[in-house]
Amino acid sequence: MEQIPGSMGWPIVGESFSFLSDFSSLSGIYNFMKKRQQRYGKVFKSSVLGRFTVFMTGREASKILLPGKDGMVSLNLFYTGKQVLGPTSFLQTTGEMHQRLRRLIAEPLSLDGLKNYFQFINMLAIQTLDQWPGRTVFFLEEASTVEFWLFSQKNIILPSLNAVSGKINKSLNIAVHSQSEWKYDNELRAHWRGAGKVWANFKIISSSFASLPFKIPGIAFYRGIQARDRMYAMLDSIISKRRNGEGFQQDFLESLIMKHSKAADGGGDDENKLTDTQLKDNILTLLVAGHDTTTAALTWLMKFLEENPDVLEQLREEHRQIQANRKDGEYLTCSELNKMPFTAKVISETLRRATILPWFSRKAAQDFEIDGYKIKKGWSVNLDVVSIHHDPEVFPDPQKFDPSRFDEPLKPFSFLGFGSGPRMCPGINLAKLEISIFIHYLACRYRWSALEKDDSVQPTLVRMPKNKYPIVVESL
Ligand code: HEM
Repeated sequence: MEQIPGSMGWPIVGESFSFLSDFSSLSGIYNFMKKRQQRYGKVFKSSVLGRFTVFMTGREASKILLPGKDGMVSLNLFYTGKQVLGPTSFLQTTGEMHQRLRRLIAEPLSLDGLKNYFQFINMLAIQTLDQWPGRTVFFLEEASTVEFWLFSQKNIILPSLNAVSGKINKSLNIAVHSQSEWKYDNELRAHWRGAGKVWANFKIISSSFASLPFKIPGIAFYRGIQARDRMYAMLDSIISKRRNGEGFQQDFLESLIMKHSKAADGGGDDENKLTDTQLKDNILTLLVAGHDTTTAALTWLMKFLEENPDVLEQLREEHRQIQANRKDGEYLTCSELNKMPFTAKVISETLRRATILPWFSRKAAQDFEIDGYKIKKGWSVNLDVVSIHHDPEVFPDPQKFDPSRFDEPLKPFSFLGFGSGPRMCPGINLAKLEISIFIHYLACRYRWSALEKDDSVQPTLVRMPKNKYPIVVESL
């Protein structure tokens, strides 16, 4: 069997510098990958970010890695991620346990389950956009706050983002009273007072993943673990209140606790029950996995639309039609989500072009072969998704933003915006729902322009514009 080709670069740092410098450009790791693929082929080794890594690309590699048949690979988290997310996060489990946790935790994220949050997201989108005209909006930052608020509402946890965004809260309250379906009472408001604290903790947790792995005061990782413990203490108190029948609220956590939590003593062996640790680890997992990705997707979408006025016009037309054909009321309805075929293509093209998660990281759980090379158990194996999304044979002129690429069904494994196989994104419906609602009001009511032209990208795992995409917004 042949040796895997590639270069390990310099001692200790390996090829990290060229990897990181390409990573921060608009085309991301594409150049890094392309150079090496031309020299070595579709499978090559490297040493980046302190790890010996085998990179692979192409639909063939995806077909082998993503279905993860017979427990061949597991998800490969960094040490910091493993420690912060906890041992029962479904990102850390494999096989049947992974499937069971995923089934229980992701249940409220089904299309049916999401109907409960439709009205809330509708109002949140309207009120958020309503505050933007006439001022500079750092889109990434604002979307991030709103995303968190939305998650919190569902997840439980928190309610008023008073500390973070009193304005949104106040205006939401007004809108809420104008819609009889949507109740927002004082009890709920009181319940939500912890929001500011949770948001602060969440931000610390998020920034601890890309830290040095030392539990020493002052290091981001140490602060992340502490913030995680504070958040878990809040969750403990909510879980115990709910278990005692206090603070009843029809939300995401409520549904998980009512359906799945084990008795407080942990007794019972019901397959459909979760321990408190499993609940907490996985609520945090959903928050971490869903927050930055959706924020980034919305930001890229705004940027690509602004840079492609023809696409924006076509999108506006789709949404104006929906609005014009609406018989009752002025707000988007759930059934109108099915009348947005072009919007769906714009979302897919955004995820292709931005490739928010540029590579999927796996660890070989056993020896296996790929493309004539032997992969050994324990090796880190990364699927380079950027190259798959920019393969000119599947996507001609790959740098062009062109939603019509999705007019016809694509070959399996050529578009991996939400992944594929047992690890495919369980938040796909929620993400699409949120983005579609947001686009509807945006396209019908506003225009915007970027305040600066800067294509650099933050060097974080989830790709986001470095300048936070500053824009000015005007009502149409
Ligand atoms: C536009 C927004 C989103 C994008 C582009 C996205 C993308 C992805 C991708 C590509 C994967 C597969 C990664 C891999 O195979 O290594 C994934 C997994 C995952 N996503 Fe998302 N996601 C988004 C939104 C969300 C939301 C809203 C949630 C939660 C509510 C979420 C939760 C997760 C979780 C928990 C996993 C891991 C699944 C597992 O290991 O079984 N994502 N996501």
